[in-house]
This record gives sequence, C-alpha cells and structure tokens, in this order.
Amino acid sequence: MSNQHQSQFVHRLFSTIASHYDFMNSLLSLNQDNYWRNCLLEKLPLTCSHTVLDVCCGTGKLTAKIASRLGPQGKVVGLDFCQPMLDQAAALLSSHPNREAVELMCGDALALPFADHTFDHVVTAFGLRNLPNVQQPLAEMYRVVRPGGTVLSVELAKPSLPLLKQLYFFYFHHLTPLLGKLKMGRDGFYSWLPESLKAYPDQAEVAEYFKQTGFKQVAFYELTGGITAIHRGIK
Ligand SMILES: C[S@@+](CC[C@H](N)C(=O)[O-])C[C@H]1O[C@@H](n2cnc3c(N)ncnc32)[C@H](O)[C@@H]1O
Repeated sequence: MSNQHQSQFVHRLFSTIASHYDFMNSLLSLNQDNYWRNCLLEKLPLTCSHTVLDVCCGTGKLTAKIASRLGPQGKVVGLDFCQPMLDQAAALLSSHPNREAVELMCGDALALPFADHTFDHVVTAFGLRNLPNVQQPLAEMYRVVRPGGTVLSVELAKPSLPLLKQLYFFYFHHLTPLLGKLKMGRDGFYSWLPESLKAYPDQAEVAEYFKQTGFKQVAFYELTGGITAIHRGIK
C-alpha cells in the first residue's frame, strides 16, 4: 500500500469506527489502554503551566488526562486528521473541568501545523503504528518540541517471552478481527490492527528511529510483558 493509500484507508477506518472506538479499545486491550496511557503520563515531566501537543489524539482520552494536570497558564492541543474522532473528543471534553486549557485541531501528523519549538512536550498514544512510517512523524514531533522538551509515545509492541509472544499473536491475528466483526457486523476493520502491528518495528528499532531523528536520552519501557512500550526522547 502506498503512503497515500494507507493514510486514506486509516482515515476511512477511524471515521467509520469513531463512535465504537473507545468501547472496542477497552474490550480488545482487556481494559489496559487507560493503564498504558497513565504510564505514559507518569513519565511526562509536566508542570501546570506547560504546553503539550497530543498527536493522533483520537477520542481525546490522553488529552483529557493531560488537561487535568494543567493550571490556568497551561495548554494541551489534541490533533488528529479524522474529524469523527475529534467529534468524540469534543463530546468527552465538553464537561471537563479544565476545558479552557484544551484545543482540538484537525491536522496531519506528517506535516504538523505548528512553528518549530512550539511545545514543551509532545505525546502520542497508539498513533505511530497507524502512520505510513515512523521517521516522518518523529521528525515533525522533534521539530515542534522546544529544546529540552520531551517526546513520549506509547504503542503496542512485540513481547519476546515465548509463550506470551505466541498468545499475543494468536490474540491479535485471530480473536481481534473476530471480535471486530461481531461488533461492526462486517469484516476487515479490525484486521488492520494485526496488519499494522506486523509492519510496525519492534521496540529496539523504534528506539533507533528516535536516535536517528536526533533525540537524546532515548529510552524505552516495556509494559505488560512487552505487549506495549513507551518510548522517550529529549530534544
Ligand atoms: C489508534 S487511534 C489512537 C487514538 C488515541 N490517541 C488513543 O489513545 O486512543 C489512532 C489515531 O490516529 C489518527 N491518525 C492516523 N493517521 C493520522 C495522521 N496522518 N494525522 C493525524 N492523525 C492520524 C487516527 O485518526 C486515530 O484517531
């Protein structure tokens, strides 16, 4: 699939599943998705006056968590290229006590609509795997974060423990598409998950991409036996 075709496919996919996304995400991750986002937040050196960009913010779950930690001078921008996902985010955030600190924006992770060094931190949760490559979005995140700022990504990874690895691949290759089909009533949508996972580099390779982009103090942390990993880089 060419980059353009992949982006169009991903856009159509998330436009179609937007209203089911949160439910399916919790179901398929056995309710671990919130825990994984919380782990990312724990690694973010956030103060209440910081500005943060949440790339591929989707339905705004991580954006909302960040907003809860900000004060009157702080700001979080949730960016996604899929308006139906942003509509879900807007609904979630409409009753947020710190709604004023949040801006939702339609935009492309491959060409972020911000000047260089705009944000104190840039984060993304389950975003990188859905993009046509890792290098371009990382370069964009690097560009828009200020020197000394942190970029964090939490994403599905590849466990190495033999039994867990087999269970994990069985789960994602066979059960996930089946559960997706039961919920959506048609084939295909949740086949993207195992396909994208297969194409996505493993955690050590992703760390290499962070280094090649120019990030310093690159580290990754495996969660839940390596099912998920958080990558960190400092500009
Ligand atoms: C798996 S969802 C993750 C949503 C959310 N961050 C979360 O924690 O659940 C991936 C999101 O990436 C968005 N996305 C994919 N490609 C994108 C692009 N090129 N630019 C911006 N957003 C994109 C999709 O629209 C979707 O909302």
